[in-house]
Amino acid sequence: MTSRSRITTNIREAATVLLSGGIIGLPTETVYGLAAIATNQEAVTRVFSTKGRPTSHPLIVHLGPSVDPEEWGDFNDAAQSLARKFWPGPLTLLVPRTSRVPDWVTGGRDSVALRMPSHPIAQQLLDEVNTGVVAPSANRFGKVSPTTAQHVVDDLGEDVDLVLDGGSCTIGVESTIVECVGDDVTILRPGSISSEEIYRATAISSTSETGEIRAPGMLASHYAPRAEVVLFDDINEANNAMEKSRANHKKTYLLHHDDVNEYAMSLYAELRSADSTGVDIIFAVLPHPSGVGIAIRDRLAKAAHR
Ligand code: TXA
Ligand code: MG
Repeated sequence: MTSRSRITTNIREAATVLLSGGIIGLPTETVYGLAAIATNQEAVTRVFSTKGRPTSHPLIVHLGPSVDPEEWGDFNDAAQSLARKFWPGPLTLLVPRTSRVPDWVTGGRDSVALRMPSHPIAQQLLDEVNTGVVAPSANRFGKVSPTTAQHVVDDLGEDVDLVLDGGSCTIGVESTIVECVGDDVTILRPGSISSEEIYRATAISSTSETGEIRAPGMLASHYAPRAEVVLFDDINEANNAMEKSRANHKKTYLLHHDDVNEYAMSLYAELRSADSTGVDIIFAVLPHPSGVGIAIRDRLAKAAHR
């Protein structure tokens, strides 16, 4: 890499860069974020432009364990139950915003997405800055999310001031997003916390378990590697199709894990390494649609969409 961006494990240094208006790569348990202080308009604007993301796609505000979430959002009973049960952790709650939340974070919407990450380094950093930090996934818009500090440097190079290294993300797919506005509890993006767990915690019974979940501001094509992605329900079908492609001199890659947590953890790293090794076609075997398997299927469907 020709980049001058540095990877560091120095949390205080990362906090100083953030507090002086910089943008940094931030490790979380799900994926790495591109972080800026939420109340700093210039820094937040730089996050949008660095990602190449339209400002109509609002940002998640990350809060440390010592920040009072009620300062940022209005929590109804369902939101309170979910926060109590799953925070800190891979859950984002979409709730009505308070006056503290700036327009440039929500794109002028009345609700704000809030998340308290469980990654110990993210927590220490958030405690150090002692305010809300926006962090979309630290990839260019529409591309594969990063799960290591090096992925962030590979994608953003000099456009990011510093990357705080917290190792490989242990979950590997983005947080479950749940909207708690009015009387409804709606899952907007599947993640490692399953819809069963969400509905159980809010005492609402789920009727759909199809994985067909509405995701705001997300396009059909997302999480996309350069290689073509083809989806299979069955590994034998995948192997057969792969042999045919090989006979046509295509470079192929089989994406498959029996363990669904392992699948989630290595999904984005494998999509990235397929690209960096010149793979033409990724043959992805879909996991069973339960637990984090639903999130993996959602990401793969978007990665496969052209
Ligand atoms: O696991 C995660 O959630 C990671 C880590 C870094 O925390 N972050 C992440 O952020 O995935 P991002 O920006 O890549 O995805 C957040 C999604 C976007 O589709 C965005 O449009 C939606 O949440 N979102 C954020 N704030 C919203 C709001 N106020 N109303 C509706 N949708 C919102
Ligand atoms: Mg993203």
